[in-house]
Amino acid sequence: MKDFRALLAGKNLSFFIRTYGCQMNERDSEKMAGLLEQIGFVAAKSKDVADIVIYNTCCVRESAEDKVFGHLSREKSAKAQRPFILAIGGCMPQQPEMADLLREKHKYADIVFGTGNRHRLPEFLWRVIENGERNIVDITEGENELPEITDVPVTTREFSHKAGVNIMYGCDNFCSYCIVPYVRGREKSRAAEDVLAEIRALADDGVREIMLLGQNVNSYRGKICESVRVVSLPAPTLQNDSLASFPELLHLAHEVEGIKRIRFMTSHPKDFSDELIDAMQKLPNVCKHVHLPLQAGSTRVLADMNRFYTKEQYLALAEKLYAAMPEIAITTDIIVGYPGETDEDFEDTLDVVRRVRFAGAFTFIYSKRSGTPAATRTDLIPRKTANERFDRLTAELYPIMTARNESKIGQIIDVMVEEVRDDASNAYKARGDDHTLVHFTAETGEFVAGDIVPVRIDVAKTFYVSGCAASDFLRKSCN
Ligand code: 5AD
Ligand code: SF4
Repeated sequence: MKDFRALLAGKNLSFFIRTYGCQMNERDSEKMAGLLEQIGFVAAKSKDVADIVIYNTCCVRESAEDKVFGHLSREKSAKAQRPFILAIGGCMPQQPEMADLLREKHKYADIVFGTGNRHRLPEFLWRVIENGERNIVDITEGENELPEITDVPVTTREFSHKAGVNIMYGCDNFCSYCIVPYVRGREKSRAAEDVLAEIRALADDGVREIMLLGQNVNSYRGKICESVRVVSLPAPTLQNDSLASFPELLHLAHEVEGIKRIRFMTSHPKDFSDELIDAMQKLPNVCKHVHLPLQAGSTRVLADMNRFYTKEQYLALAEKLYAAMPEIAITTDIIVGYPGETDEDFEDTLDVVRRVRFAGAFTFIYSKRSGTPAATRTDLIPRKTANERFDRLTAELYPIMTARNESKIGQIIDVMVEEVRDDASNAYKARGDDHTLVHFTAETGEFVAGDIVPVRIDVAKTFYVSGCAASDFLRKSCN
């Protein structure tokens, strides 16, 4: 790696990364920040004072792209006021027509790069700083050749107590509406040893919770050497002599000392195996929360979407999860207004919502993404109908979420502190094992991010619950 520090002769150029989209992008941003810090750049307090402004973009829906364009037009004016380097990376430029648009219509962008070559950001910056190059547009197809960037300094992680760990890249599922397989490339699992080494390093850095990340973690198949295999697992989990399955990886991650909570996302319902349910049940540090995108409740729409499960299969899986772990929280993603969706199809979505009783959901209106199979559909749903369905969906979801939270009132649950909200009043933001957002106060004891605290729940809202540290409650000092 080239060392910019000597060349910049003490001028510590600062950078600011603005991230859009999913947890994969957030982790990518942390890695890019780590790379930049390793070569002598420093994180800026705000975008307005940064020497280098980086947009890590998302293209999963048009609204995400519109947001970026809104900001870019402001960056163009800002560049006229003060000099800084503007770099646009991530999923948006990974679409060829978008790369062309950025090249031709957004020439004020100094660097345009994709998901497949983010590790080359220092080189692109070098070319701008040293050679005065402008409007570098460099996109590598997919992510299959992407080298790992695991040696990220701890200072660049968004949270001190928790971190995402990529276990695989890309997606092979080609859901008809989704751009991800085109911009993130083919599915590729990291070797189990590499994943474990990263988790161990994070644990040594004080991380207490990890989130194993992939577009479809259930189809993880990573290389593993015989010496680290969990030989006690039954045959279906130990699928192949040289490849670890996701349940086996969970068992291995569970062995890493210092890690108190393990989460994972995202799970595709079609690949959710009994072995995975078994591993979740047996391993106490694996959180009882599954993010299980439904997308649609109608079997016909699901087939159109290329999802490879029916309404009944989804319901049966949810039932199996509740039977194995009654306390589990199932959250989901739902799209309304997919081309051809009838009122009856939409009723199926509402029916699944009522029956599964989701603990939370990301809800979306279908957004046409050019290059995907669904983009050729002509039976589009009028915007007004899609909006109405969206509102009906949230009207169905929210009371269920509230009722689920209300059922926690009076319970004492272990939460992991995420953030000290207010030192003076000892107010904390935390998460339950099932990912419930918990606000609590603690008159006695001071906590830091990563601490696990028993909390008595007193109040329930749709998106969070609140209460007080159980030790206070037991001392009767809590109202
Ligand atoms: N339109 C609307 N929502 C989409 N998603 C993916 N592609 C689209 C699209 N074209 C949603 C899916 C996915 C989540 C990450 O984004 O619900 O699970
Ligand atoms: Fe997109 Fe489907 Fe892959 Fe998820 S599983 S990233 S929705 S193609």
